Amino acid sequence: MSFQPPIGIADIHVPESGTWRRVLVAWEEWSALFGYPLILSPVLEATELFERGVGDTSEVVTKQMYTFEDKGGRSVSLRPEGTAGVVRAFLHSGARGPWKAAYSGPMFRYERPQRGRSRQFYQVGVEYLDVDSPLADVEVIELGYRFIRSVGLEHLELRLNSLGDSVCRPRYLEELRTYFRDNEERLCSDSVSLIDRNPLRILDCKVCSEVVTDAPRMAEFLCDDCREHHEAVRSGLEHLGVPYVEDPSLVRGLDYYTRTAFEYIGVDLDAAQNAVGGGGRYDGLAESIGGRQAPGVGFALGVDRIVLAIGEEPDPTLDAYVVSETGPGDVLTLISDLRGHGFAVDFDIEGKSVKSQFKAAGRTGAPITIIYHGDDQDVSVRIEDERHEVPLQEVPRWLTTR
Ligand code: HAM
Repeated sequence: MSFQPPIGIADIHVPESGTWRRVLVAWEEWSALFGYPLILSPVLEATELFERGVGDTSEVVTKQMYTFEDKGGRSVSLRPEGTAGVVRAFLHSGARGPWKAAYSGPMFRYERPQRGRSRQFYQVGVEYLDVDSPLADVEVIELGYRFIRSVGLEHLELRLNSLGDSVCRPRYLEELRTYFRDNEERLCSDSVSLIDRNPLRILDCKVCSEVVTDAPRMAEFLCDDCREHHEAVRSGLEHLGVPYVEDPSLVRGLDYYTRTAFEYIGVDLDAAQNAVGGGGRYDGLAESIGGRQAPGVGFALGVDRIVLAIGEEPDPTLDAYVVSETGPGDVLTLISDLRGHGFAVDFDIEGKSVKSQFKAAGRTGAPITIIYHGDDQDVSVRIEDERHEVPLQEVPRWLTTR
């Protein structure tokens, strides 16, 4: 009998794991650079947290959650996203005032699997809570933008919209409903079923794009506060040189968003899965899960999609490979010494022929090959076309100062 991972869930290892490691390490650095401390929140939460937080009209909650009863008879779900759990943790901590958190980990959605869309996927993200300043939106958006580009996904488009708030959105939704009802016969059946429940989601329907093109725009309905907020976000991004495009049809798949909504689009990816990240403001989320009023803004990036766009890289990236002419046991001290000096090195542990050790060295892509001839002889250090003879004890120091 042989087991495979469940449908839509993949093992991640060589050959793409090198890119994964580099992206995740870079994420830790970038999130710290912007002052976001790490949070490790649970993968399993009460189902109600997502129903109330993410919203029970979103597909993510109604159709895609992995929900089950635990042995105590409580309904729990694997997290389909990270924001609701982080906001719950924030409220539970009793913290007040601007509060930041960076997270990374697996999320679960029972979706139709395809390239770039899986049932277990990995997100990195931040949440910035108890802040209503548009400068927080600007900071968050800038972090995501700079991070994605820094790891090598340069062909990136940032799309921006405002979804209004509880003051101005209801009037807009009524206008939208009226418009879609007037054009009902031109909508697909899924969209028709959304007219009353969540007409905003119709704006996202690829099949109904003709009707959507002429639909009323949120921008025309924004109240003064939302308009001012949006202007400030735009001018902040312009000030920092973060390019964006206004996208009035941008809506998000989760219900909690107010005002700012954005997506990072990998322009070279297949259109259906080209959002490598998204986020926005969610000023009512904390209250909707039973907490106090605590506005917030954040994003999550899909690491699977980012890696897909960048391509494969070797893992680990070795500095050197040690070839031993006298067997593996003789180079243990040298290897340990090199690692102790911070060099990533590896060697053949099975006592293979020198020829196959050289082949193995080539396969690793290590730029340096160190050849051990025997305890009483100098070691040969090959760096590209150069060859140096170095006393055995001196090798780590020689490499460090070279
Ligand atoms: P989201 O847009 O649902 O937002 O997900 C963010 C990113 O996760 C997507 O842009 C995509 O790259 C990736 N992603 C989502 N579903 C899948 C999947 N099935 N397979 C592969 N990748 C996927 C959120 O999750 C919000 N919590 C973001 C946020 C944080 N908003 C405010 N704070």
